Amino acid sequence: MQKLEQLYEGKAKRVYATDDPALLIVDYKDDATAFNGAKKGSIAGKGIINNQMSNRLMHRLEQAGIPTHFVQELSERETLVKRVEIVPLEVIVRNLAAGSFSKRYGIEEGTPFEAPTIEFSYKNDALGDPLINDSQLLAIRLAKEDELETINRYSFRVNELLRAFWAECGVTLVDFKLEFGRLADGTVILADEISPDTCRLWDSATGKKLDKDRFRRDLGGVEDAYAEIMRRLCEHDR
Ligand code: TMP
Repeated sequence: MQKLEQLYEGKAKRVYATDDPALLIVDYKDDATAFNGAKKGSIAGKGIINNQMSNRLMHRLEQAGIPTHFVQELSERETLVKRVEIVPLEVIVRNLAAGSFSKRYGIEEGTPFEAPTIEFSYKNDALGDPLINDSQLLAIRLAKEDELETINRYSFRVNELLRAFWAECGVTLVDFKLEFGRLADGTVILADEISPDTCRLWDSATGKKLDKDRFRRDLGGVEDAYAEIMRRLCEHDR
């Protein structure tokens, strides 16, 4: 597999073409941003952890029947993935109140829910990724009705699978963000990454935050938290 020209550079990853038009290479950076890029920094070793964690989790999801873009890990920071057209939605699933949900609805962080929730943001940096509801995203054709049905079904199933897995590692999956993409034939699959950048992961015993909130909120110990969450995953995922 030959790595060809860079197609795109995002906040945390670069994407390259390959000699197979159906495959891309993603290369994970240590760069970290928050608040739509307003806060910038770097988390040493993050790219390696996010690459390896995302691949392991996607492999598990694939085995459990969720189609994903993951093909093959190529190096510490590089992975071969299926080329998709990204559905411009950030899909957020929550098990406990935290972050923007707590702020918006005045509910203390850590408050458990009656049932998991799902919400969507329109993936658009210029607009600051505004929240959007089902009827609105259908109205402006961000997804088709059958695609939205698939995204909802996969997202709640991913939550069940990941929540159970992290629980075995002594970690509470508070919430997370997913992105989906369309293959050339229109099939919707899970894309992007699943990592401490895109999930809230709390130590089940102590409540310690083992995710990017340590960077967003200047809590310190960011690198240690990423290393700790990766160690928890590795111990359990043999
Ligand atoms: P929020 O509470 O700030 O809306 O975040 C919900 C989840 O989504 C949390 O696990 C962090 C993740 N997330 C991203 O992956 N990318 C983003 O740009 C934002 C704002 C949140």
